[in-house]
Amino acid sequence: MVRNALLTLCFVLMGSMLFLEACKHQPNLPTPATNDSTNVNPNPTNPNNPTNPNNGNDTGICFSRDILPIFISNCAQAGCHDATTKAEGFQFTDYNSITAKDFVKGNAGATELYEKITEDKPDKIMPPPPASALTNEQITLIGRWINEGAKNTTNCSSGCDTNNYLFAANIQPMLKTYCVGCHSAVNASGGIRLDNHNDVSAAAISGRLLGAVKHQSGYKAMPQGGNKLSDCMIRQIEKWIDAGMLNN
Ligand code: HEC
Repeated sequence: MVRNALLTLCFVLMGSMLFLEACKHQPNLPTPATNDSTNVNPNPTNPNNPTNPNNGNDTGICFSRDILPIFISNCAQAGCHDATTKAEGFQFTDYNSITAKDFVKGNAGATELYEKITEDKPDKIMPPPPASALTNEQITLIGRWINEGAKNTTNCSSGCDTNNYLFAANIQPMLKTYCVGCHSAVNASGGIRLDNHNDVSAAAISGRLLGAVKHQSGYKAMPQGGNKLSDCMIRQIEKWIDAGMLNN
């Protein structure tokens, strides 16, 4: 927090837009430390920034496709960081709310939410135990997205193909991104678990899985708080069910 306050102060003093140019052309001004690898550098493109694995390159992360669903499923539950509760003042339901508080575009290391998801103390990490920590893959994606400027990219191609509906390669990763944060052993919302083949099959057999993702009447619309899954994704689930719900 102290670091965030210092960074903010620094930007205010320098005049935010002129800051980088000023540093380049006026040697009298103090320049950010570039050689001290223990020092988090506010310049996202600085290759010495230890929290910046790709030096500011755009690696094609899509906010609406890759990032938002992780927040919806793992952070925005009722009682946590939804619009009603806003625990600790943090709301994680859409782009504006996610980037609103203690968030430094271009610098994951100075961004509070990134610190929380990478925290190693069990009493500080988010999501809090017994909820599962985010996977390394999810943490890496969020870190890269912030370091690449936290762009609000939407309507990106999904890469989804209805001809692919293997459980391990297609269905499970989809559920992990969009659903498992609210439907695991420790948080089986509505009595539904979607974190293993048996329970996904049971939800499918009961008709509740498709009813929920298709927003059919009589079922709760899922993912709760998020956008409806694409037609392609729903079709993949449907084909997997029709083909016998194999654990393939
Ligand atoms: C933010 C949390 C959250 C996310 C994300 C979420 N769910 Fe749910 N889900 C719930 C809650 C809470 C309930 C129970 C709702 C109730 O009973 O009012 C529920 C209920 C359900 C049900 C039972 C519906 C019924 O009417 O019988 C199914 C099936 C389901 N979810 C599937 C999914 C799937 C599939 C996804 C991902 C595509 C998903 N959920 C994402 C919170 C979530």
